[in-house]
Amino acid sequence: MKPIKVGLLGIGTVGSGTFNVLRRNQEEICGRAGRGIEVTMVADLDVERARSIVGTDSGVTVVGDARLVIANPEIDIVVELIGGYGIARTLVLEAIAAGKHVVTANKALLAVHGTEIFEAARVKGVVVAFEAAVAGGIPIIKALREGLTANRIEWIAGIINGTTNFILSEMRSKGLDFSTVLKEAQRLGYAETDPTFDIEGIDAAHKLTLMSAIAFGIPVQFDKAHVEGITQLQAADIKYAEQLGYRIKLLGLSRRRDNGIELRVHPTLIPTHRLIANVEGAMNAVMVQGDAVGTTLYYGKGAGAEPTASAVIADLVDITRLATADPDHRVPHLAFQHHAMSNTPILAMDEVVTSFYLRLCVADEAGVLSAITTILAEHDISIDGVLQRESADGEKQTDLIIVTHETVEGRMNRALAQMQALPTVLLPIVRIRKEELA
Ligand code: HSE
Repeated sequence: MKPIKVGLLGIGTVGSGTFNVLRRNQEEICGRAGRGIEVTMVADLDVERARSIVGTDSGVTVVGDARLVIANPEIDIVVELIGGYGIARTLVLEAIAAGKHVVTANKALLAVHGTEIFEAARVKGVVVAFEAAVAGGIPIIKALREGLTANRIEWIAGIINGTTNFILSEMRSKGLDFSTVLKEAQRLGYAETDPTFDIEGIDAAHKLTLMSAIAFGIPVQFDKAHVEGITQLQAADIKYAEQLGYRIKLLGLSRRRDNGIELRVHPTLIPTHRLIANVEGAMNAVMVQGDAVGTTLYYGKGAGAEPTASAVIADLVDITRLATADPDHRVPHLAFQHHAMSNTPILAMDEVVTSFYLRLCVADEAGVLSAITTILAEHDISIDGVLQRESADGEKQTDLIIVTHETVEGRMNRALAQMQALPTVLLPIVRIRKEELA
C-alpha cells in the first residue's frame, strides 16, 4: 500500500520533532500503521530554516505558503503546528473543506473554536485529531476517549501546565517569591518572554476545556471556564500549606455535580500524600476518576519537541489505520456520538463546592478568633483546622490560617466579606481553594 502523505504547516520545535521521530522510527511506525507515513511537504514562513531542518536530500517540498499544502491533492493529512486562533483557524477550516484529515497541537484554537471545527469535520467526514494539544506526550485524550469509555467519569484533575508547575516547585523548594522564580524560569527557557498564557492559567484552561468536553460529552466551552493563575501566590502560603500537609499546585479541575459541571483552573492545596501533589518541575499529570475503574493517574512530559511529536505521530497512525473506514465507524471527536452530546450546564463559581485555605492577618488580641469562627458558623461553614503563627515579642498582629471543610463557594464569599469588614482583620484575606482528590 502506498504511504500516507503528510503536509506540515509550521516546522518549529514540534514540527521538527515530528519530522525527526517519523524518520528515526519509520520502520516501527509503518509496522504499526500498516503503511508508511511520510512528510512530503512543509510550509513555513522561514523557508530557509525549514529547508535546513528537512535536509536537501529528503525529497520534501518546502514552501512559504500553507495554502499550497492544502491545495495539493497528494496530501492526505495536514498537521497544523502554527498555533493561535487567527490564521490557524482559517487554514484548519480550509484543510477540512479540501477533504484533508487534520492533526493539531493547538489547544487554544480547539478550546475556543472547537465546536465549529469539529462540526465542519463531521460534515465533511474527516478527522481532526488533537492528542498533542493536551499534556504533550501523555496519551490522555486516548485514555479519556477510548481507554475509559466504559466509565461514567466523575472528575478530572490535572497539572497541565509545565511552566507554572516549575515555578511553584521552585518557590516551594527554595522559598522564593513568584517574580524572582519567573525571571529565573525565563532565563532557563522554561517560561516564554511573554508568559501570560501560562502564568495566568489560560493554557491550562484550554487543555481542561478539551478534556472536560470529552469526559462529559459536552461542547467545548472555554468562555465558561473559571481561570485564575499563580501571579498572586505568595511564598508564605506555600510554607503554611506545607506545615498543614498540603502542596499548592495550579490545578485544572472539572467535576460532575448534580446541578452541572465545574470547570475551573486555580491554585489549589492538595494533600502532600497524593501522588499528584509530588509532580514537580515542568512535568504534567492528570488524575481521572471513573465510576468503574476508580482513580487513574497519567504522568509525563507536557511539552518539548519529541514528547509532543510522540502525540502528533500517534494521531497520524490512528488516522492512517482508519483512513479508509466509514466515518461513522471512527472514534467521535469528543468521544460521544454527535446525537448523544449533552447540554449539561457549566456551573458558575458561586455554585462550585470546594474547601478553603484562608490566611488572615489579624490583630493579636482577645476575641478575634471567636469573631471569625462565629461568622463561619453563621454561614454553616465547618472548620477543619486552625494554625496561628507565634507572634514575636511586642508584635501586635499575627497570621491566622483556617482550613475549612467543603462548602458552596458563594456562601464562603459572603462569609469572607463579613470577615474582611472586621476592624481586627488588617489586610486583604488570602483565600486558596483546597481539594482532597480522594
Ligand atoms: N506552555 C505549556 C506549558 C506547554 O508550560 O506546559 C504547551 O502547552
